[in-house]
Amino acid sequence: MNKFFYITTPIYYINGVPHIGHAYTTIAADCLARNKRQRGFDVYFLTGTDEHGQKVLKAAQDKGLSPIEFADDIIPRFKDTWKKLFITYDDFIRTTEARHIETVQYFLQTLYEKGDLYLGEYVGLYCVPCEVFWTDKQVENNLCPDCKRPVERIKESNYFFKISAYQDWLLKYINDNPEFVRPESRRNEVLGFLQENKLNDLCVSRPKSRLSWGIPLPFSPEHVTYVWFDALINYLSALGFPAKKDKFEKFWPVCIHLIGKDILRQHAVLWPIMLRAVGIDPPALVFAHGWWQVGEEKMSKSLGNVVNPLDVIDEFGIDVFRYFLLREVPFGFDGVFSKAALVKRFNGDLANDLGNLVYRTLTMAEKYFEGRVPELDKASLDEIGRVKILPKIDAIEAKVDEALDRFDFIAALDAIWDLIGAANKYIEETKPWNLKKENKNKELENFIALLIAGIRVVAKEIAPFMPQTSEKINSQIKTDRVEKASPLFPRIDVD
Ligand code: MSP
Repeated sequence: MNKFFYITTPIYYINGVPHIGHAYTTIAADCLARNKRQRGFDVYFLTGTDEHGQKVLKAAQDKGLSPIEFADDIIPRFKDTWKKLFITYDDFIRTTEARHIETVQYFLQTLYEKGDLYLGEYVGLYCVPCEVFWTDKQVENNLCPDCKRPVERIKESNYFFKISAYQDWLLKYINDNPEFVRPESRRNEVLGFLQENKLNDLCVSRPKSRLSWGIPLPFSPEHVTYVWFDALINYLSALGFPAKKDKFEKFWPVCIHLIGKDILRQHAVLWPIMLRAVGIDPPALVFAHGWWQVGEEKMSKSLGNVVNPLDVIDEFGIDVFRYFLLREVPFGFDGVFSKAALVKRFNGDLANDLGNLVYRTLTMAEKYFEGRVPELDKASLDEIGRVKILPKIDAIEAKVDEALDRFDFIAALDAIWDLIGAANKYIEETKPWNLKKENKNKELENFIALLIAGIRVVAKEIAPFMPQTSEKINSQIKTDRVEKASPLFPRIDVD
């Protein structure tokens, strides 16, 4: 039977270029997608861009471009970055594509006919740059609680979505489905929010006269769709919903949304309600990860400390960046990005542990056996090999898979590094040069063969994290020969 895996990143706003925050979710999703592909799952990995709304319109106007010209200009920046980071997405959706607009309009029309959308008058405080409405209670001194710029009082006729009617259903759903929102702390946050607040119906349109850059409501062309209502639907429009039944039936509702913690409510409250209203099950799981800050500071354009992934990979390499993001901080927690921490991981885990193991083992294979890969004879392994190494080789795949199924990237890497560490220790304790001196050729063969078997599984299991390194290792270890190349991770001089 086919197993299906559908994983998504948020679709990114295009009024800036990709930064470490975007790269983080995308690399995490790529790692999971690659691991699932290795396991024979039918995988659909979706990313894309969120192109409507005030901010994009403004950014385009500042450059003297139409919004679509502006978007067309920026998209290659995203696609190139993902290519450079070895991101293997299956689909890249843009909210300006016809396939997306069709699905959004289907949602709107369905909800309208059902009576879940009604025309009302919106009066509220609005922050233009953030595109967010605030309540009187939230606003102090007439300033936006987020960006601290002045808000405006707006009064206009708009369509409202009766989300209040779904609050009890959602609360029960989240209570009954402990795996829907992950990690636990975020689940509690959503439950707390739903228990303590009464949901207000959501204003899901904007008058075209105020904001022209959006998807028109099919039943009222004078209005365009609120960006969040538009954006969330990308996860279904990419499947060709409702026209393409086969894709939808394969990949829904197994879908997993990876998101940052700041957009949890949209994904765990608004989105399941939108789906429920059109008669679709919620996705399987929403995982909200933490935020990266840079040194002591929050990352922000105004502080000028935004980390561009392309600069990091130019300086240190792609795989170390991918490795660092997934190894340094438990997925779900906030983290601190610094070059010093990255160099420490590079010199320690990568150069000392992994790089050394491969280099030493291949050096020995060349020295003792002229590059031939000796046959492994499990029955006559020495004690360390039998007790400490072979069981780890046999268990590694299950351990990595189990950890990744829980989004525990660190536990997966720990399982791999446990074997690497044991193998390095094996070399130190066995003292192969003595075996050679004593003419214990059979023992020496088995020792090298076991190390190579270990490196082979390591290469396979690290592939989702460090695809390039995995390939480099595989190219040095053929079926029956090794061809040593230069060290995988030449140490970085800290001075
Ligand atoms: N367009 C919306 C998402 C719509 S999804 C239907 C959006 N875009 S965004 O470009 O502003 O942000 C995308 C993601 O980047 C969010 O998940 C956010 O959490 C993440 N990050 C932005 N800055 C970040 C860090 N400094 N660290 C980690 N992730 C951060 O929101």
